[in-house]
Amino acid sequence: MSFLTLEHVSHHYFSKTGYTKALEDISFSLKEGEFVALLGPSGCGKSTILSIIAGIIKQTEGKVLLEEKPIQESKLAIGYMLQEDYLFPWKTIIDNVLIGPKINQKPTNEWKDTAIKMLKEVGLTDVQNNYPSSLSGGMRQRAALVRTLVNDPKILLLDEPFSALDYQTKLKLEDLVGKLLKNYHKTAILVTHDIGEAIAMSDRILVMRSNPGSISKTFEVPIEIRQATPLNARKHPKYQPLFDKVWEELDRREGGVK
Ligand SMILES: Nc1ncnc2c1ncn2[C@@H]1O[C@H](COP(=O)(O)OP(=O)(O)O)[C@@H](O)[C@H]1O
Ligand SMILES: [Mg+2]
Repeated sequence: MSFLTLEHVSHHYFSKTGYTKALEDISFSLKEGEFVALLGPSGCGKSTILSIIAGIIKQTEGKVLLEEKPIQESKLAIGYMLQEDYLFPWKTIIDNVLIGPKINQKPTNEWKDTAIKMLKEVGLTDVQNNYPSSLSGGMRQRAALVRTLVNDPKILLLDEPFSALDYQTKLKLEDLVGKLLKNYHKTAILVTHDIGEAIAMSDRILVMRSNPGSISKTFEVPIEIRQATPLNARKHPKYQPLFDKVWEELDRREGGVK
């Protein structure tokens, strides 16, 4: 059974002066536990796809189903992680992490144990009572990840969550996120414009093109790369040939260097 399905999804943004055709005829599906990357240039509609899946906007045409039900009926099942961490500066890390359970009126004490365990897994035990301003960018993103995971979402939407970090922090965080999502058997969609990141982290890469946003090609990531950590994946002999093929596809679509 497919877990998440998009069928012929199109989207227009309307404004006073006209409309933008952001997406045209997007169809793909994910199995439970699968990790898919949406890769493409800025403006090709990647974030629009995530907003539709999250139920934040409604597609103009087509269907989005989570476990065979329209996505609007299962809003709480979605976890979102963005480039900016949106941690509340006046709350400690642990209180930031417990915002979800509080909003959903779940007994905070039970969730506190889960939160403490997860903060340990990402190496934030020592700073859990600190405020976000005292943490580095990488630490803040780890806290944001725990805040998302603690709600036990059925699907995780990652919108360029590593793109504001320095290279080394980014690689380390890719490893950590990859490991955590595998351990918790999470289904995830990663939006990125970084080919290496898409190959190193995902099972499948959907390459997008712009005007209007659509999927131009799908690449399966070889099992050997999928089983390696993102850092080791980049050293695997099968990594560079796939990188070159994906590069070619993106370059062909965007018409090379302008
Ligand atoms: N709220 C909006 N109103 C009007 N146009 C929008 C809005 N959000 C995005 N767009 C347009 O839709 C297209 C796709 O945007 P987006 O999904 O943000 O792309 P990406 O995430 O790949 O950079 C772009 O042309 C963008 O300008
Ligand atoms: Mg975007």
